[in-house]
Amino acid sequence: MERTERIYMDHAATTPVSEKALAAMLPWFREEFGNPSAIYDYGQTSKNILESCRKRFARCIGALSSEIFFTSGGTESDNWVIRSTLKLKGAKGQHIITTAIEHNAVLRTLSQMEEEGFEVTCLTPDAQGHITPDQLENVIRPDTILITIMLANNVVGTVLDIPALARVAARHHIWFHTDAVQAVGHIPIKVHQLGVDFLSVSAHKFGGPKGTGALYCRLPNHLPALLTGGGQEKEQRSGTENIPGIVGMTAALEEAVEDMPQETGRLIAMRNRIIESLCSIPGVKLTGDPENRLPGFASFMVEGIGHSVYIVNALNEKGICVSSGSACSASSREASHVLLAMGYDAKQAAGALRITLGRDNTKEQVDHLLSVLPDVILRQREAQLHAK
Ligand SMILES: Cc1ncc(COP(=O)(O)O)c(C=O)c1O
Repeated sequence: MERTERIYMDHAATTPVSEKALAAMLPWFREEFGNPSAIYDYGQTSKNILESCRKRFARCIGALSSEIFFTSGGTESDNWVIRSTLKLKGAKGQHIITTAIEHNAVLRTLSQMEEEGFEVTCLTPDAQGHITPDQLENVIRPDTILITIMLANNVVGTVLDIPALARVAARHHIWFHTDAVQAVGHIPIKVHQLGVDFLSVSAHKFGGPKGTGALYCRLPNHLPALLTGGGQEKEQRSGTENIPGIVGMTAALEEAVEDMPQETGRLIAMRNRIIESLCSIPGVKLTGDPENRLPGFASFMVEGIGHSVYIVNALNEKGICVSSGSACSASSREASHVLLAMGYDAKQAAGALRITLGRDNTKEQVDHLLSVLPDVILRQREAQLHAK
């Protein structure tokens, strides 16, 4: 069957803006474009929607509105927590704990901090991508000032046991940050149940616009500003607020939270069909935790194909978008640092395939994927054999 329809199955990379979010955003581009810092009515209308979004956004993650700061996305939120905590607490200690499976927004920022003299301990996960509370406990030092561990991994979809890890941090009075970029809007989140001090959010992973995000801060007045300037966000994050983006992100998050009970079951059923079907092919194995994983997230290691970009390209020709790993590493052929940390070798990691489902995917699209993918894998394996 020739298909012209595009089938998008790379929602961990980014998602389309939802219809509701787009409709909510539109008036804020032209009709109501006032600067929220301006005192005339136009400005105050923007200020009012900004504060109403803060309340609604906070409610979605069980936070207080005073604990929410709007940012330009996950990367900024991660950078802000790390750089500002180290600046604030650097005199008390020089040691930070993270994991080897974090996004580069965390890992590369910490590498820079190492160059400035901070010491970083990078915990190695088990084969499914988990870190245990004992592992964390064992590396805590008197001079540890920050622990940063992600809630859900962007390469294998494993959901980590953050409440247990955050309890360890709390016992030692160490600040705990979680990068929840892949989790917010996909699994239920209540910040107080997680027990974290900081949590990073990115709108474009759950039907909101790109370039918008948030940082939850349990201690809002303690984190020094990363961006200085006009003093917006109570002097803590300068820059004219991205009102359309914030409105879109809030609408998308409310929609995701409201639809989550039905949507989760639907996504899990489709994801499990993909997992069962692909894992019945010899040499195809699931990566990550089979149970504690994001609802729409199917990730595999495919043997004998050389590199999964061949599969991604072959599916692309058939109008199907999937990923060879994470979006950031998709354009390079470098083995994913996440899979290497989980114990795969570079050859195995080269076969990483990630299929991530979202709101617009249908059972029929999954049927179509499964009707073409096994043959694509087979052909690539044959091509590899002939190339040898
Ligand atoms: C786990 C994780 N953290 C951070 C980011 C960066 O977020 P943003 O694209 O909003 O900067 C991403 C995006 O891929 C991610 O998956």
